[in-house]
Amino acid sequence: MAVTISADPIGLFQAWLAEAHETEPADPTAMALATATADGVPSARMVLLKGVDDQGFTFFTNLNSRKSHELTANPRAALCVHWKSLKRQVRVEGAVEPVEVAEADEYFATRPRLSQIGAWASKQSRPLEGRFELEGRVARYTARFHVGDVPRPEFWSGFRVVPDHIEFWEDQPFRLHDRVVYHRGEDGWTTERLYP
Ligand SMILES: Cc1cc2nc3c(=O)[nH]c(=O)nc-3n(C[C@H](O)[C@H](O)[C@H](O)COP(=O)(O)O)c2cc1C
Repeated sequence: MAVTISADPIGLFQAWLAEAHETEPADPTAMALATATADGVPSARMVLLKGVDDQGFTFFTNLNSRKSHELTANPRAALCVHWKSLKRQVRVEGAVEPVEVAEADEYFATRPRLSQIGAWASKQSRPLEGRFELEGRVARYTARFHVGDVPRPEFWSGFRVVPDHIEFWEDQPFRLHDRVVYHRGEDGWTTERLYP
């Protein structure tokens, strides 16, 4: 089946993601996030997509992590998701902005309590002496928040990739794969097909 071109790439992404929820054995929201330092040294890692709408693609993380430092110095990113069961790939590129405080609070409140404690305990991307040090910090924050809700740490929030380009790739026989790229212009999205 060839990629169906529609006027709305976000709707197309949501439709593909809904299909992937039916077919993928693991979490279909896992995606590679590529960032770069101010002088252009790239790095990539997996994150989970927690929201996608006309505003962009949202994920959450520790604001003192390597990715967050890179996004602060160079607020552009690329995302790549591969749904093996559907033989489909989507690539997203765009500017990055921090999510609103209310959005971060709202999402943090939905996380399991132990994940909330984990967010407090982890100094993500910084050196760790050994697992005992991390376990000690988990114990400390478990005691600190033993009653009531766990508040969101100020150093934990989200970013939104606001897409300029979204490419939909679908496997076709004989490696003659189908590629459709959406480019955001002044008057909305334009599309083009690319050779595989
Ligand atoms: C499937 C998967 C999903 C992940 N999701 C997240 C996530 O949503 N947020 C996050 O901060 N790290 C997530 N991680 C961990 C990151 O890949 C990475 O190890 C961590 O964020 C530190 O990256 P950094 O040092 O480049 O900032 C995930 C890892 C995997 C394998």
